[in-house]
Amino acid sequence: MEQIKKPTIICIANEKGGVAKTTSAINIAAGLSLRGKKVLLIDIDSQTHLTNWLDFTFDGKPTIAELIYQTVAQFPINHDDFIRHNEKLNLDYIPATPMLAGAVTTLHADQTDETTVFTRIFSDNYFVKYDFIIIDCCPSLDLRITNAVICSDILLITVQADPIPYQGTDKMLKTLLRMKPTANIGEDVLILPTMAMNIQVSKAVLEAIHTSYGSMVLPAIPFRASVKNSSAEKTVLVKRRSDDVGRAYMNVVDVLIGGEHNG
Ligand SMILES: Nc1ncnc2c1ncn2[C@@H]1O[C@H](COP(=O)(O)OP(=O)(O)OP(=O)(O)O)[C@@H](O)[C@H]1O
Ligand SMILES: [Mg+2]
Repeated sequence: MEQIKKPTIICIANEKGGVAKTTSAINIAAGLSLRGKKVLLIDIDSQTHLTNWLDFTFDGKPTIAELIYQTVAQFPINHDDFIRHNEKLNLDYIPATPMLAGAVTTLHADQTDETTVFTRIFSDNYFVKYDFIIIDCCPSLDLRITNAVICSDILLITVQADPIPYQGTDKMLKTLLRMKPTANIGEDVLILPTMAMNIQVSKAVLEAIHTSYGSMVLPAIPFRASVKNSSAEKTVLVKRRSDDVGRAYMNVVDVLIGGEHNG
């Protein structure tokens, strides 16, 4: 019997704010699309940075908050209503609005298992048309993150190569791994060092990341002003061959394609 190919779900998380979760989500998603993969991006952050980057304008159709609500309420779901397409990046996405702030309360109301709502959502056959589903998390460890971690095949933690945001990484990682006790370290759980600078303190953090997490560590993303411009311009760097941040994200994309579901 032919096996149905499932999408590889990647959850991009870190409890800390401003450590390049959204920048990584959009560049990795766009890079996967450049490699011919069909990608769905999910924004679960009520700050809606990813949604804004994708140039979403409110269209009156349901968003991720309603998808969570309808699943918890066990209402019928018309998946097509939730999916938007970004022509420029050739990506599908489910947007967030500030209304998502109430989603944690909604998840708590689930009668089956409040930690597996996303698992139920993304195991629907509707999503088999995607090769990758990428979830851009909010800076927290709330029930949205628990759901995202549990439903994912790969947990990708962006860690800023800077001493202050690096503090507490080990504790956070332990908390995330408790949500996913069967995960294979280095295969299902990866660390992406971001904003790496050519200065001593940043190099020291990179070294510490390699010492502590060796097999889990992806090639680092350098700190460049081009990233700031790209978020303001709503573009991605993976499309620019001359940009070393773009090239670094394409290296990550190729590692992820190597670990894609095959069966
Ligand atoms: N490689 C980089 N070089 C320079 N600046 C970067 C780089 N990566 C991200 N940034 C900048 O860092 C800031 C935070 O990035 P981003 O929004 O992706 O982080 P985040 O983890 O998603 O934040 P939040 O937790 O608020 O969702 C942004 O201004 C972004 O442009
Ligand atoms: Mg973000």
